[in-house]
Amino acid sequence: MSGVTPLSPRLSRVLGIEAPIMQSGMAGVAGPELVAAVSNAGALGVIASLRLPPDVVRKSIRAVRAATDKPFGVNIWLHDDVRTSPDPASIPDDIVRGAQAVLNQFRSRFELEPTLARPDAPTDLVDEALEIMIEEKIPVFSAGLGIPEPALVEQFHRVGTKVVCMVATVEDAEIAVMNGADAVAAQGSEAGGHRSYGQKHARAAADRNLTANLVSAVVSAIGAHVPVLAAGGIVDGRGLAAMMKLGAEGVLLGTRFVATTESGASDLWKTRLTTGDRSTSFTDGFTGQWARVLTSEFTEEWEQSGAEALPGLLQAAAGQDLFSAAKQLGDDQLQPLYAGTAADQLSDIPSAADVVHDIVAEARAVLGSS
Ligand SMILES: Cc1cc2nc3c(=O)[nH]c(=O)nc-3n(C[C@H](O)[C@H](O)[C@H](O)COP(=O)(O)O)c2cc1C
Repeated sequence: MSGVTPLSPRLSRVLGIEAPIMQSGMAGVAGPELVAAVSNAGALGVIASLRLPPDVVRKSIRAVRAATDKPFGVNIWLHDDVRTSPDPASIPDDIVRGAQAVLNQFRSRFELEPTLARPDAPTDLVDEALEIMIEEKIPVFSAGLGIPEPALVEQFHRVGTKVVCMVATVEDAEIAVMNGADAVAAQGSEAGGHRSYGQKHARAAADRNLTANLVSAVVSAIGAHVPVLAAGGIVDGRGLAAMMKLGAEGVLLGTRFVATTESGASDLWKTRLTTGDRSTSFTDGFTGQWARVLTSEFTEEWEQSGAEALPGLLQAAAGQDLFSAAKQLGDDQLQPLYAGTAADQLSDIPSAADVVHDIVAEARAVLGSS
């Protein structure tokens, strides 16, 4: 530690960090380079391990350990339908055809064959990844889209790992604490990426709870027991200060870290986050789960079609050919460019360390803390 009094002493004690900032695990974005840079700057870097084969999860953990001696985390989703994929054969024919028909409207753009076929089920990788995390005795386990059961929390605690749960409702925050979580991140609907529910809700229920309201309510409910971090729509020190005024002890940031030099996001994605129109939409058309992304031709067409998304991550599997081609060819209209509503406050692509240092300095100035 630097000798300066941390802004949030309890959170610093629990997670072993100086800056009250956690970088979100983000598939394709939060690899070892970003994670080590964030942790070396005194905040908590978090590796994204969703859909990674077990040997890659282990390699990523070891790569971070080689690049920093500071605490870091590993994130995965515990969503029921991601831990064990639904059987594609169980999906009614008309739903598969409806989803594929929308995807077919775009396939010709990349000379892809139209199809009405059922996708193959993805391999279930979550439980193997959890085993690796426990074997590797990672400093922090970060759970999204689902709350770890008490036995899993206990397994992590036995090897000295702290557990942070991301939740989108007060009820889930209370369950997380009952199950033994060491800290809770309250994710409001401004957040980029997927809404943190362990089961899929109807759209109206999934897209509720603005960050400030949720943070206040979660702090009232569980803040006496564990530190609360605020997530969703925060990109600067004023945001951190505001959330601390509401009782949060730190912030969890996704979108701000996507647009950094060490992020694994494409240059196209970083440019779209920092220039021009940054309107966002809430959609289940890319993966099957509700997520906030930059508005695009695809999000608009999907919305208008009224098609039902395939469950679990089978929607992602169904559109894999299209979304991968768009990514490869740099088409920003047909790939998920996850973004929170505060993306339009971004105008630069700094290093992760500059993000951490600037946010802490600005929050200290706003809060009048030296
Ligand atoms: C590109 C991107 C990828 C994300 N991937 C994950 C993920 O793999 N696991 C997870 O728990 N949350 C993920 N999230 C959600 C974040 O945890 C967090 O709630 C959100 O980024 C906070 O809002 P902000 O983007 O406005 O900072 C992701 C967010 C973004 C922007």
